[in-house]
Amino acid sequence: MYARITGTGSYLPEKVLHNRDLEKIVDTSDKWIRERTGIIKRHIAAEGQTTRDLAVEAARRALQSAGRQPQDVDLIIVATTTPDKVFPSTACLVQQSLDIHGCPAFDVQAVCTGFVYALGVADKFIRSGSHRCALVIGAETISRILDWSDRSTCVLFGDGAGAVVLEPSEAPGILSTHLHADGKYEELLHVPGGVSRGYPAEEAGGAFVQMKGNEVFRIAVNTLGKIVDETLEENQLQKSDIDWLVPHQANIRIIAATAKKLNLDMNQVVVTVDEHGNTSAASIPLALDVAVREGRIKPGQTLIMEAFGGGFTWGSALLRL
Ligand code: COA
Repeated sequence: MYARITGTGSYLPEKVLHNRDLEKIVDTSDKWIRERTGIIKRHIAAEGQTTRDLAVEAARRALQSAGRQPQDVDLIIVATTTPDKVFPSTACLVQQSLDIHGCPAFDVQAVCTGFVYALGVADKFIRSGSHRCALVIGAETISRILDWSDRSTCVLFGDGAGAVVLEPSEAPGILSTHLHADGKYEELLHVPGGVSRGYPAEEAGGAFVQMKGNEVFRIAVNTLGKIVDETLEENQLQKSDIDWLVPHQANIRIIAATAKKLNLDMNQVVVTVDEHGNTSAASIPLALDVAVREGRIKPGQTLIMEAFGGGFTWGSALLRL
């Protein structure tokens, strides 16, 4: 028994912020952002529009593409770092909006690796036979935890949501998931403040993303190269068996390095970082939905998803669509 993706959906907020708009806010340039990151624009949630709102839209679209009704869903997992409330979980809020009652609903927090973690968890629920229709969502309003005066972070991120429906199948779907973390890198990429620790007044920027970008970059490239090897080895596959790379969208240079490691041409890589920026846990399901709806990824093809994020956390999923 496998778990298979039977539907995909995504949602981007209406407001678009171009690099040129950022030039008016911080000391940066369109040229610098394009060359160092590949980002051209990103979407930003409207005032009052929350992670739940984005997640619900993406979930509705995924259910529609799977030909399922909300009432068919028996498991909801939301990967997010930017929940609406401390509690209830965003998954419970999504459940309420979709008028679903009684099924388990919970959030997963692994920052940019969140969707891969959520998919790994849902895969185990479905394969065990305990659940038959999972909604797995990555949704973020990262714009709310950015310091808009810090050019080293505010140009990198965007808001959005992506979702998949996962159902049991005798034909191969998810072939393997690989999840990792190492908390020793806590301070290279983090939001220093929090509910329990508080937001000390003297700790400027305690509520916002802080990142040592070039150190993160170096470790990300290295680690993603290794996770790709681990994924191929465990499945006894060759690089040539992979049709598509659907990577986390943090930086085009990181994506290109992983593609090179897999001997993949860039036209076998789904790239959305130019249009979406880094949407953290939402980036992989957003990219997947774009490529599926454009008819680029075809049923039966083999794809590898990989992600790296705060924690550090990292992971991959190998699957057949
Ligand atoms: N505009 C213009 N200049 C900027 C800038 C901006 N938005 N942000 C930083 N700079 C400057 C720096 O101040 C530095 O100037 P200096 O040389 O005078 O000190 C210079 O650009 C180079 O900075 P550096 O941080 O070394 O650049 P980089 O090539 O490493 O690119 C990132 C920066 C953030 C784009 C890149 O490191 C990165 O993508 N890191 C990983 C991101 C990531 O994967 N995130 C986590 C996973 S989700």
